[in-house]
Amino acid sequence: MTGAVRSSTPIMDAYDTWETTARNHNAGTFSTEVLRMIERILPKGMAASAETGCGKSTVLLSNLSESHTVFALDDRNLDDSSVDFYESCPLTQLNRIETVFGPTQIMLPKHAHMRRYDLVLLDGPHGWPFPELEYYFLYPHIETGGLLILDDCNIPTIARMADILAEDAMWTLEGFASTTVIFRRTSAPLFDPTGDGWWEQRFNRRRVSPKRDIYLTDASPLDIVSEARLDLTVFPAGKP
Ligand SMILES: C[S@@+](CC[C@H](N)C(=O)[O-])C[C@H]1O[C@@H](n2cnc3c(N)ncnc32)[C@H](O)[C@@H]1O
Repeated sequence: MTGAVRSSTPIMDAYDTWETTARNHNAGTFSTEVLRMIERILPKGMAASAETGCGKSTVLLSNLSESHTVFALDDRNLDDSSVDFYESCPLTQLNRIETVFGPTQIMLPKHAHMRRYDLVLLDGPHGWPFPELEYYFLYPHIETGGLLILDDCNIPTIARMADILAEDAMWTLEGFASTTVIFRRTSAPLFDPTGDGWWEQRFNRRRVSPKRDIYLTDASPLDIVSEARLDLTVFPAGKP
């Protein structure tokens, strides 16, 4: 990953103009404001990125990355198709996109990744354990310093996954934008995807009995994302 972090959002500015003048849609769940925030913090000149699911985010990521891989269902038979949405947006850099169509549950385990990613966005199927399954097949391929973005952390199972990552040595929590949570890969060694090692993981060590020799005394359990109760931010109590 190279280049400086931008402060303006030229891609999402252009998107806004297109969306309000040319296209009204319901395919994407990302708000333009959240994508603006992501555009602001992403470095220029990413070599490679990937996302599960597709739509509005694909428009942005195909502009920010020289090579962007989309793992998603081919839903072009639907009226509010996510694939059709990004394909028909004139801002999308179609020549930079590689599509891997099919359920991520089936396609990710057999995919041969040709390069490491500077950014991975998980926003495909949201039911448990699918985002965790996607994480499993993608985390070994994220560059040191690269970003992992989890959307919809208002969903309790995804918030719990974010809590685990927030305490994991491989990640630092960069911040929230609405219900989207962003992590950055540290230089910690890769957690062996074919091993065990639950006792090495801080989330576990902070939650075992204090009598165990693996118990971490440095802090109590954090549960940063779950505690934020993002669902209540989106759907405040007292409103219908
Ligand atoms: C919430 S939308 C993604 C929104 C997108 N990030 C955006 O900014 O517009 C979820 C996407 O995941 C796709 N999807 C749902 N289940 C899937 C599965 N099992 N495998 C692959 N993609 C799936 C849907 O077709 C849709 O494109």
